[in-house]
Amino acid sequence: MAGVLAGKRALVTGASKGLGRAICHALVAEGAHVTGVARPSPELDGLAQELGSAFEAWPHDVTGETVLAAIAAAAPFDILVNNAGTNRPQPFADVEDEALDLMLGLNVRAPFRIARAAARRMERGAAIIHMTSQMGHVGSPNRTVYCMTKHALEGLSKAMAVELAPQGIRVNCVAPTFVKTPLTEGFFADPAFRAFVDRMIPMGKLATPEQVAAAVVYLASPAAAMITGHSLLIDGGWTAQ
Ligand SMILES: NC(=O)c1ccc[n+]([C@@H]2O[C@H](COP(=O)([O-])OP(=O)(O)OC[C@H]3O[C@@H](n4cnc5c(N)ncnc54)[C@H](OP(=O)(O)O)[C@@H]3O)[C@@H](O)[C@H]2O)c1
Repeated sequence: MAGVLAGKRALVTGASKGLGRAICHALVAEGAHVTGVARPSPELDGLAQELGSAFEAWPHDVTGETVLAAIAAAAPFDILVNNAGTNRPQPFADVEDEALDLMLGLNVRAPFRIARAAARRMERGAAIIHMTSQMGHVGSPNRTVYCMTKHALEGLSKAMAVELAPQGIRVNCVAPTFVKTPLTEGFFADPAFRAFVDRMIPMGKLATPEQVAAAVVYLASPAAAMITGHSLLIDGGWTAQ
């Protein structure tokens, strides 16, 4: 298929729902073959049906060992989108150790290990994209752990970008504002929270999964060949104030 990513092999984590699902569709639409990782679910099976031969489902937990073994055994990837992540908003004083460990494991340790496994095999021209957040640039109430993990991923990306540049591997972040996905649906059930978000976004609306996916496609494409160590905010101006 023609497209800016024709012939490229992409690995996307958190593929089955939300942003990851839109990213898989956008990468396939630009000609890439996509391997999508998520835990086994009807949503992952459904995505495989939607995308057909351009997609392979990898039913792995990204915090485990099997996904690393699969990356080591597969042909090298040209594109890695480290997208799987979560949030458990809690006031700082009430943060439970279980939530702290879950988010450090899923949002930091897993993308680190997956990027390391993928980068070991990558060739010149490859691109790694970390899904961070506007919360990787600013702070916000009830989000200490989430902000910490996303700032960590931003720092990892810069250091990787510097170290891997001589190998021709680019490393960037996509940093969205709020998007309606299975992750955030519950947050928006609270009208006060929805009003806070609406007040904070100068553009006056949430981002869409397709807008976030378009940023991923751009950073993965040859058009971004000189861009590395960058974080592309898709935040409608949240962090500009
Ligand atoms: N939505 C937003 O407003 C927003 C804004 C900024 C940044 N982000 C970031 O964007 C990324 C995606 O968010 P989203 O809103 O699309 O989340 P989501 O709707 O909860 O989807 C998360 C995806 O990751 C998968 N996943 C979760 N835990 C996993 C695990 N242990 N192993 C493998 N896969 C796992 C989920 O599938 P299974 O649970 O079935 O495995 C699902 O496919 C996250 O890093 C998030 O922090 C989101």
